[in-house]
Amino acid sequence: MKKLLFDCLKHNLADELRRALISHWTDLSLTIEDLYPLLTIPPQQEMGHLAFGVFPLAKKLRSSPPVIAQQITALLQQRQQQSSSQSSFDRVQSIGPYVNFFFSGPFLFKTLVEPVLTGAGFKQKLFESAPQTMIEFSQPNTHKELHVGHMRNACLGDSLVRLNRYAGVPIISTTFPGDVGTHVAKCLWFLKYHNQEPIPSVGKGEWLGRMYSKAHLLLEDHEGTPEEANDREKLSAILKQIESRSGEFYALWLETRQWSIDLMKDIYQWCHIKFDHWYWESDVDSDSVKTVKKYFAEGKLVESEGAIGMDLNDENLGFCVLLKSDGNGLYSTKDIELARRKFEEHSIERSVYVVDMRQALHFKQVFACLKRLGFKQADQCFHLQYNFVELPDGAMSSRKGNIVPLIQLIHQMESHVKENYLDRYRSEWTNDEIESTASVISQGAIKYGMLKIDPNKKIVFDMAEWLKIDGDSGPYIQYAYARVQSILRKFSGTNIPLSQGDYLKQSLELQLMMLLGQFNSQMAQAVETYRPNVVCNYLYEVAKLFSQFYHECPIGRAESEGLKQDRLALAKATREVLKEGLALLGISVPERM
Ligand code: ARG
Repeated sequence: MKKLLFDCLKHNLADELRRALISHWTDLSLTIEDLYPLLTIPPQQEMGHLAFGVFPLAKKLRSSPPVIAQQITALLQQRQQQSSSQSSFDRVQSIGPYVNFFFSGPFLFKTLVEPVLTGAGFKQKLFESAPQTMIEFSQPNTHKELHVGHMRNACLGDSLVRLNRYAGVPIISTTFPGDVGTHVAKCLWFLKYHNQEPIPSVGKGEWLGRMYSKAHLLLEDHEGTPEEANDREKLSAILKQIESRSGEFYALWLETRQWSIDLMKDIYQWCHIKFDHWYWESDVDSDSVKTVKKYFAEGKLVESEGAIGMDLNDENLGFCVLLKSDGNGLYSTKDIELARRKFEEHSIERSVYVVDMRQALHFKQVFACLKRLGFKQADQCFHLQYNFVELPDGAMSSRKGNIVPLIQLIHQMESHVKENYLDRYRSEWTNDEIESTASVISQGAIKYGMLKIDPNKKIVFDMAEWLKIDGDSGPYIQYAYARVQSILRKFSGTNIPLSQGDYLKQSLELQLMMLLGQFNSQMAQAVETYRPNVVCNYLYEVAKLFSQFYHECPIGRAESEGLKQDRLALAKATREVLKEGLALLGISVPERM
């Protein structure tokens, strides 16, 4: 996807630079598109607000970069003195191979802060002709436990959906729960032959997940014993009934599957996750074999040792079996059919799969098969891999019994938040506000905790750390928002003419404006790299800088009414940026905290 030139500060300057450069080097052909990407933000503000790296230009002019930088600086200074029309920058200076620009407070306010205040800045399209995209995420298996690990996938996918939509990319969100397979058979086997517990009247989904874990452990214990063969026979009978949609186990499957689905839906509702379309493994399953047979009949697949599939050896991906010699399909078979449906039934041009890193080879094979089957969308299929979530004492396992069920985690977090932060407001706030704020803060803690780490890196789940109000956490950013809200409430009595930023000249004020003005480029970067952690880092910087600004640039005690209003406008813009940014992570804000 091609990024648009949405940054007004850079766009204006690129245009101004272009006019100056071609007035001097008359045979240079230069466009705004050429210059815009050469404008960057220097590491320290003392060096300027924007820097123009002259390397490509120096190459064209066959001169050394520092010399060219000096010449351009002199040219711009000269034009600034002569020109009757004002230049956008205040001051220009060369440092080595860079030409550095400084802007005035009112100019930064007009260009960067006003669009945030009016909301127009949040309505820009960030990419050119974006393809119709499907993002598939959160594909938990029914009958198993939903644990903290599943939350990473859900948060990543949901945030990518929100970010892409924000950037103007048309998105269809989808999920693909695994409601068939051996895990289901194991769970039903245990229920029928080994379970002693009564079925609870509430919390059936979680209970079912525990039954699966017990099944798994018991089957492991039976391995190598005379029981093993017997188990295997029973499991395959169960699978057959589910497949043929008949018999006692089919009925049990239907009933128990719904328990898991109800639990999934409760959790999606709690975290405000919505899917435009639900695919089910059970639904794709039967058609997938037919589809593969059709491709084979069309000569698109080959036979090898009785199996049917695609030879991917020249890509070092081996032989991808799609139909075993017994006529059964495999996981890849379902993914071929699923992809076909996505492309054909929803006119999908780009397809993203949020699935953990263990499935990397699987998706390479599937995408390679799709390409050879002639799907042009195959080049725009992308597996967003992510790493695991571990507990401070290591990986989660049913054997160790240290799996943290999601529902339990949610309840624990909410009680922790109430006890530690909200109970003190019991006499002032309504019970409803306490409850809803507890839920908003818990969501902030979980989602931010899951998203702030690069998807490639492991997450160590630590509830206390994630709930800290004074660190790199969701509640910290939410608290920053609530704090700006309370500042604005405090000063909202004074009614004044609209700010123009005329009084803003302190370094921290300019720095805050520059940072707020980065919102869209940060969002675009997160979309391009599939990394919501870019958004987390950015919001953390905004929250920290605002708090520094608020200490050093007092609002109530500002030297003039004009300055006070300008600073209040900056506070307002900060509030908008925090709120919009958190929303793109799927996090809501509390009005007070
Ligand atoms: N349900 C699968 C699992 O838990 C993940 C499905 C991923 N999506 C896909 N299209 N294969 O491993």
